[in-house]
Amino acid sequence: MAMEEQLQQLEKKLDKIWAGGGEKKITKRHQQGKKTARERITALLDPGSFNELDSFVAHRCTNFGMDKKETPGEGVVTGYGTIDSRPVAVFAQDFTVLGGSLGEMHAKKIAKLQDLALKVGMPIIGINDSGGARIQEGVDALSGYGQIFYRNTIASGVIPQIAAIMGPCAGGAVYSPALMDFIFMVQEKSEMFIAGPQVIKAVTGEEVSGEQLGGALTHNRTSGVAHFAASDEDECLQSIRTLIGYLPSNNMEDAPYQNTGDDPGRIEEGLLQILPDNPNKAFDMKEILNLVMDRGTIFEVQPLFAPNIITAFARLNGRAVGIIANQPAVLAGCLDIDSSDKAARFIRFCDAFNIPVVNFVDVPGFLPGTNQEYGGIIRHGAKMLHAYSEATVPKLTVIIRKAYGGAYLAMCSRDLGADQVFAWPGAEIAVMGPDGAANIIFRKEIKTSDNPQAAREEMIKEYRHLFANPYVAAERGYIDSVIDPRQTRLNLAKSLELLVSKKEILPAKKHGNISL
Ligand code: HXC
Repeated sequence: MAMEEQLQQLEKKLDKIWAGGGEKKITKRHQQGKKTARERITALLDPGSFNELDSFVAHRCTNFGMDKKETPGEGVVTGYGTIDSRPVAVFAQDFTVLGGSLGEMHAKKIAKLQDLALKVGMPIIGINDSGGARIQEGVDALSGYGQIFYRNTIASGVIPQIAAIMGPCAGGAVYSPALMDFIFMVQEKSEMFIAGPQVIKAVTGEEVSGEQLGGALTHNRTSGVAHFAASDEDECLQSIRTLIGYLPSNNMEDAPYQNTGDDPGRIEEGLLQILPDNPNKAFDMKEILNLVMDRGTIFEVQPLFAPNIITAFARLNGRAVGIIANQPAVLAGCLDIDSSDKAARFIRFCDAFNIPVVNFVDVPGFLPGTNQEYGGIIRHGAKMLHAYSEATVPKLTVIIRKAYGGAYLAMCSRDLGADQVFAWPGAEIAVMGPDGAANIIFRKEIKTSDNPQAAREEMIKEYRHLFANPYVAAERGYIDSVIDPRQTRLNLAKSLELLVSKKEILPAKKHGNISL
């Protein structure tokens, strides 16, 4: 064959592959407000940076008429490109080809990309849109999932793994995302479930829509499976680009530095206006975070799930940090099952990827109640103790107001290895709040007094005087400095610069046994 002919043949083959499931199916997707797999990759990556791999891969199945079916690209586009000039691996399932279902060779394409990402040390982004295991391929499809899950697990903590859910994802299609670090969903467009509405109806008789069962808001608000809910595909893909900007490419690198031009010594008078006079009144912790961190750099993770704790990436003096902050505006900032899970997972991500953690504390305790106890708050809360204790990244803590009991310890106290602990002058560090404490330790005195109410108030005052301040803890060295709130940013920035070179080696072990 002459070269010209060879090129024509190549072009013809590629045209067929690039057409995916064909014009009709592509038009249907566009009408649904969905992009094709290749359009998604183009929107995600730097312009012109995508290099496709394995586009000629074909299935080998002969069951159920599959020998006569072509599956262009095997229902998944794989390759690599760049985000802000940094390399990333990306795959996007093509729903127009057999519903993006995963067969043996589809899985091999993804597994090969995972191997490449791990070897090179680059993040991998999976755009999922799939009916799950390709039914015609039986156990070969299941084996394919197994290979992907295995690689997800081996790569965990080595390279960042990000999943976008951009269509219906059923059965096995949800577990690879669940093994990754962050899941993005698109409202009204993506669904995740193990068993779909029809199966549920058949088994339990329960009627539920796909969106209610596994839509973006369900998984962002209720189950905590997902981390971000975008209003459309473009917003979702842009958010992934933003997230990548805070992350190192692998666990041997530091997170990329970005000069934000924000003075680390900026003094913020506004920080004096945020706390209410009454310590039992709520305030919005985000107001403090916004004033302290580099302007406009806070990128919240799981904003809709367990909002009594805030987890976010941000920059401080240009360096990426992870923020864990109690939110007194929700449940008074108590720690509960969901907030403990949310925070512990975030802390472990930051630690795995060399991202320092900065903790802002206003916590009255763990949330009391039978719901919490029966749900296992003991083992869930323990995750925070474990996650902070084992984290060797720089750990900075600012006690803004309350830090009581086990929750004081759980919010990265000195004893869990905080490198620097600061407290605002109104901070209260004690086993419990003054009211509860007085009722217990002065019960007899209050009961036998001529005026129990006045006696109670007197005892509360005495307790508050003794413990509801930062100075006892500072005298013992549990707190390094009691600081002027206006200088919070300056103090944190200085500590961070000092701790950049921190090295801490834990005893060698296979892995710990975090309380799951
Ligand atoms: C083969 C599949 C498929 C699958 C969809 N298709 N899912 N082909 N295997 N799993 C095909 C359809 O036959 C159809 O082909 C095309 O994809 C589009 O599907 P539609 O049903 O027309 O699309 P839609 O109405 O949008 O519904 C999408 C869907 C639905 C909700 C995903 O297709 C569905 O429920 N699929 C089955 C989901 C499922 O139960 N999967 C198995 C999970 S078990 P044509 O040729 O008509 O275009 C599993 C085990 C792994 O994954 C466990 C590991 C832990």
